[in-house]
Parts: sequence; structure tokens; C-alpha cells
Amino acid sequence: MLVTRGFGIVGTGVIAAIHADAIAMLPDARLVAVTDVEAGPAAAFAAARGCSAEPDLAALLARRDVEVVCVCVPSGLHAQIAVQAAKAGKHLVVEKPIDVSLDAADRLIGAAGAAGVVLTVISQHRFDPGLVELKRLLDDGALGRLVLGEASTKWYRAQAYYDSAAWRGTYAMDGGSLMNQGVHYVDLLRWCMGPPVEVTAVCSTQAHQIEVEDTALAIVRFASGAVATILSSTAAFPGFPQRLEITGTQGTVTVEDGRIVRRALTADASPVATSQAGRSAAADPAAVDVASHAAQLADLLDAVDTGREPAVSGQDGRDALAIVLAVYESSRTGRRVTLGDR
Ligand SMILES: NC(=O)c1ccc[n+]([C@@H]2O[C@H](COP(=O)([O-])OP(=O)(O)OC[C@H]3O[C@@H](n4cnc5c(N)ncnc54)[C@H](O)[C@@H]3O)[C@@H](O)[C@H]2O)c1
Repeated sequence: MLVTRGFGIVGTGVIAAIHADAIAMLPDARLVAVTDVEAGPAAAFAAARGCSAEPDLAALLARRDVEVVCVCVPSGLHAQIAVQAAKAGKHLVVEKPIDVSLDAADRLIGAAGAAGVVLTVISQHRFDPGLVELKRLLDDGALGRLVLGEASTKWYRAQAYYDSAAWRGTYAMDGGSLMNQGVHYVDLLRWCMGPPVEVTAVCSTQAHQIEVEDTALAIVRFASGAVATILSSTAAFPGFPQRLEITGTQGTVTVEDGRIVRRALTADASPVATSQAGRSAAADPAAVDVASHAAQLADLLDAVDTGREPAVSGQDGRDALAIVLAVYESSRTGRRVTLGDR
């Protein structure tokens, strides 16, 4: 028999709409309630979605029909909200990045573990068709020994984007282009290439009035000996496809916006295949493809049902954050940063 799980959403801004759409796509999920510090938007969101608007977090967490909580508040509040939800026994879907400091990430992972709830940190692009295929090729050894990677997010956000909410573009609540926009492909790079051991980086603020960087460049060396570059910008008009390119001794695969656009492997009969890149938030923050969020929520529900780890764990979210923070530290100090025990 299909068990339907009730979801609650905390924070009813831009990304909450994608969570609501993703929940609506799943036969075993139902949006029960939302809450936000702004009562008006929460009420409008609830009315549009046919669910309840609770006056505050405590009221949402008190509902027994809310079994899973999606944390869709500003990044620097993720752990604060999610720890309370974990203590209330709710399973957790936490938006990326896991939070903006490793201490906060550790508090969150610890609270989920102590409460025995399942925690997934959103990295929806792991569920994009091109990434699923690339990971399978890597696991099968089709690329040979890894040599070189490129993770590139050249996007465009106008100053109005940063001015649209006080938390955007701040160190305390958001982080810069790499922490917010680039972190997706940082996670994908680590997923595909394994743990990094050191990072050298330069970050700068080129085209916005913000305290954080709008442009980050890094060189990464992995435990395997392979190397990679990471590039993230919100100053690249008009915005380009997000791109991950992995080269091994047996060839190269290029993914753009979740689709494989080029594949040249020594074992292929026809060495080059191309397709169009997918939907993109290159210039529009709200243009997030809902199918991959839905796949990650479905994975969480399966993890709850079967007791397995979710595909993207709290530790995965922490690992991506550790790379972002190492990039920031390297840029700040002008030194190479080792990642060993972070
Ligand atoms: N996975 C993706 O592709 C993706 C895309 C966009 C945003 N995000 C992430 O989602 C999070 C939210 O981003 P957004 O663009 O939706 O922001 P937003 O500003 O549009 O929405 C955030 C909402 O949280 C509310 N809020 C703030 N503090 C709160 C609190 N203490 N309790 C309850 N509600 C509170 C705000 O009033 C606002 O409505 C960020 O962490 C961001 O990195 C992820």
C-alpha cells in the first residue's frame, strides 16, 4: 500500500515554489503546511497550493501530519531551522549550501543523527540525466584514470537580484557566487572526481555592490592525483550553460545544464555524440527544472522507507561546503589550502 508522507516547507520564497511543484509530482507526497517570517507571502503561497499557513516554525513542527520538512530559508539559517525540525523528529530536505560554516553544518548533521531522522542536502543536478550517465561511465571505468576536470558556472545576475533581499550577497547569510550558484557544480565535481586535497584560488568582486565575491577561480588537486579548475561568476552577461567536463586517460565527457553535449571515449564506435543543453538558471534565478528536485525528494522518501542513506547526505553537503570555504580562505590569504581533515 502506498504511504503518503506529509511535507512542510519553511520559507516561502523563490525556491519554495520548486519544492511545492516537486512534492505535487510525487504520488506518495503531499504538501501539508508552510510557514515564513513574512505572514503575507506565506498565506498567499498556502492559498495557491491548497495547504495551511502556520504562524511560526513551532506550529508547523507541532503538526503530526508533517513528517518531512523542506528548509528553504536563507542559507545562513539552514542549520538553525533544521536542528529544531530534527529535534521534532522530522526528516529533512535542506536547500544548498548545507549552511555557510562548517560549525553550523556539523550541528545540523549531529542533530539529524541524534534524532534518527533522514537528512538530504539538495544537489538536484546529481539527478539530471547527463550526470546520471556520466557517473555510470565513471563507475564503469569508461574514462580510464582521471586526469582533468572543469566545473564552470558563468551566470549573470543584475544588481537588482542582490538588492531584492537583505540576505543576498552577505557573508553571514549567503556567501558569494561560488557558495550560492557555483556550489552545485562543486558538489558534482567532487562526486565525479573524489576527495580533493588542496585548493589555490582567487576571488574578486567585479560588477556588483556586494561584500562577497561575484567571481571565483580555483585550481584543485585531488587525492587521486587528478587536477581540476572551478570557475563561478554572476558577472558573466548574458549567462552561459553550467558545464562539467571530465577527462580521463580514455577520453572526455562534457555535460552542459544536465545533458551530455560531447562524449569522446576511446571505446566508442562513434567517438563524438552531441545533444542540446537543458533548462538553465543562467540568467533567471527562478528557472530551476523541477524534475531533478522531484527525483531527489523521491530518493529521500525511499531512504526513509528502506532505512538506507539518501543519495545526497548531510556529509556530502558538508564536503561541498568545505571546498567552497577552502577557496575563500586561499583567496583571502594568498596561500594554497589543504583540505585533509576538514
Ligand atoms: N537548489 C537550487 O537550485 C536553489 C535555487 C535557488 C535558491 N536555493 C537556495 O534556497 C534558499 C532560499 O533561497 P530563495 O532564493 O528561495 O530565497 P528567498 O529570499 O526568495 O526566500 C527565502 C524565504 O525565507 C523566509 N525566511 C527568512 N527567515 C526565515 C525564518 N527564520 N523562518 C521562516 N522563514 C524565513 C523569507 O521571508 C523568504 O520568504 C537558499 O539557501 C538558496 O541557496 C536553491
